[in-house]
Amino acid sequence: MKCVDDFRLRFGKRELVPIMIGGMGVDISTAALALEAARLGGVGHISDAMLPTVTDRHYKTKFVSSKLKQYKINVLEADKSIVQFDLGQVAEATHLHVRKTMEAKRGEGMIFINCMEKLTMNSPRETLRTRLCSALDEGIDGITLAAGLHLGSFTMMKSHPRFRDAKLGIIVSSLRALQLFLRKNAKLNRLPDYVVVEGPLAGGHLGFGMDWEKYDLRSIVNEIQAYLVAEKLDIPLIPAGGIFTGSDAVSFLATGSAAVQVATRFTVAKECGIPLKVQQEYFKASEQDIEVNMLSPTGYPMRMLKKSPGIGSGIRPNCEAFGYILDGNGNCSYIDAYNREMALYPEIRKISVKEKMCLCTHMRNYDCWTCGHLTYRLKDTTRRNPDGSYQSMAAEHIFHDYQYSTEHKIALPPEI
Ligand SMILES: Cc1cc2nc3c(=O)[nH]c(=O)nc-3n(C[C@H](O)[C@H](O)[C@H](O)COP(=O)(O)O)c2cc1C
Repeated sequence: MKCVDDFRLRFGKRELVPIMIGGMGVDISTAALALEAARLGGVGHISDAMLPTVTDRHYKTKFVSSKLKQYKINVLEADKSIVQFDLGQVAEATHLHVRKTMEAKRGEGMIFINCMEKLTMNSPRETLRTRLCSALDEGIDGITLAAGLHLGSFTMMKSHPRFRDAKLGIIVSSLRALQLFLRKNAKLNRLPDYVVVEGPLAGGHLGFGMDWEKYDLRSIVNEIQAYLVAEKLDIPLIPAGGIFTGSDAVSFLATGSAAVQVATRFTVAKECGIPLKVQQEYFKASEQDIEVNMLSPTGYPMRMLKKSPGIGSGIRPNCEAFGYILDGNGNCSYIDAYNREMALYPEIRKISVKEKMCLCTHMRNYDCWTCGHLTYRLKDTTRRNPDGSYQSMAAEHIFHDYQYSTEHKIALPPEI
């Protein structure tokens, strides 16, 4: 009976345990979690989502208050087009987070950064280029291009001295998205080093419509695999979304996948950024407590717990402090939904906005409880305390369970 440890992810001469912990913003996949994956010989991701606020929290920088101070006069305005990020500060935040993480790295594994194109930051091209190149500057092992087609991202990095040596990959949810990416970058003579194929059961934003239930990971992986064989393209494929046991992972590795990307099981790891109290909500969730909705202003469907405190919140848009989802014209669909509601109920002090969510604020505060579809199985992966609460676990325990388990068994953490 094979286990994950019988396989290796190969990048040139390097061999890794074929387990990649996916990027989870905002600071859900912390440096601590990514470092554990690398120490254990796999691949961990940090996320570059909202890094100025993340570094304020971890390293006592003052990026958010300095931006808010600069744009304070605009707080009550509906028009957010003047609210821009200082590129120097974006670079500084990325440098700091990546440098500190890479300095702490131990072991034979790798640390990648997840970079979402949909964080358009009121200046999509410049901010994205700054984020990508700053991560390369500080020696990140690799970059996973996420949440978007990233048709221009390779070009943005092509003059960087590390463009050909860092591992660069992309997340796709269809063959078409991959074909577009390859076609657009054909002239650069540089293929992606890996392709994460994310199916409809993943957490965070989905690369599908609200008809996500019609799709399944296995079929998409098979289709992409057949295409790569036909085109004689040797690019490692890394399926993601709903791979819950070591045996689930083996079923992909044994049929040609290079590794698996997993996340949901690690949302209840001690090293994960989700606060312990919120992790209890993840443990307690039943399948009916999880939904895919259109509340994210990015326009992509997103999966979350129905109980997320951010749902229905009518908080004033916080773009002067955050503003990560402002498009290139300074618009965000939460602002529109908020203004509509304010116009309808001018006399009410605390409105509720049901159409969209202020994702920056609620992700930053861990009030948008995004999760994978199989979150309802987390309760079966741990022990209960005498008071009925669930034990969170060391990331190492979960990693080793994926690495060594067979027959869909899940080892419970040691008794405490
Ligand atoms: C809480 C949570 C947050 C996530 N955030 C992101 C993100 O910021 N960017 C991204 O590309 N994927 C994100 N994902 C997707 C994961 O990186 C991963 O590909 C996927 O969830 C794997 O499926 P699994 O959770 O069923 O193991 C997130 C997943 C979870 C569970």
